[in-house]
Amino acid sequence: MEIPQALVSALKNARRVAVLTGAGISAESGIPTFREAQTGLWARYDPAELATPQAFRRNPRLVWEWYQWRRELIAQAEPNPGHLALARMEQHIPDFTLITQNVDGLHRRAGSQNIIELHGNITRTKCSQEHILIDTWEETGEVPPRCPRCRAFLRPDVVWFHESLPADALQEAFEAAKKAQVFLSIGTSAVVQPAASLPLTARQSGAVTVEINPAPTLITESMSFVLTGPAGAVLPELCRQVWGA
Ligand code: APR
Repeated sequence: MEIPQALVSALKNARRVAVLTGAGISAESGIPTFREAQTGLWARYDPAELATPQAFRRNPRLVWEWYQWRRELIAQAEPNPGHLALARMEQHIPDFTLITQNVDGLHRRAGSQNIIELHGNITRTKCSQEHILIDTWEETGEVPPRCPRCRAFLRPDVVWFHESLPADALQEAFEAAKKAQVFLSIGTSAVVQPAASLPLTARQSGAVTVEINPAPTLITESMSFVLTGPAGAVLPELCRQVWGA
């Protein structure tokens, strides 16, 4: 794949880079995205209808079990060449921020360090009432298990639709977008706010913006460069053409 020379130079000279990733970067690790056809056991459930406080109130067991299934998928998955290329990119850029909407923790497993997890992390569990992280609980067979402090149901420490994002993480993400010289939006459909505003904020603040995605999205037309293809192929090639490795 031919990477435009202007983009190669922009990345080579950049001291501040921010990246936004979405479910698409983990697709090649075998983790289904949110807005594409689901397969298997959970095919008939719409993630947008399970990942909500309302769904959890209505059927906490169903929601817990869906997350349990996703936790198992993620535990079996491995970071792919896209995740690994981003970890390498961080080594070349003095001020590098990786903002992810993914809850799968694969960026950290790939070796990325400066990560902002905007939507939480599926491996952590919290109390659904007090929102305190809980590490251990008694397995009584009840699903979901209960908080050892207050007996409310436990839930994954992720941000659901209609919930607000962690304020500190959000502020840091916007700061990184505003100061970035290059901003990459990778594997996200850019429909869920406020994350979807980050690439446009970067653009308005003067960044060179790049989208990596096999399909067009809502922000494609506003990007400086669009690299069409799967992240696991495009990102290693981009790194090779910019840094030679
Ligand atoms: N490489 C890059 N992008 C890919 C790949 C791939 N191999 N495969 C698919 N994609 C793209 C799709 O074209 C799509 O644009 O990834 C995007 C996935 O979009 P969504 O499923 O909407 O995921 P995302 O943008 O992360 O969703 C945002 O919404 O459901 C909530 O909280 C959830 O974090 C999630 C948020």
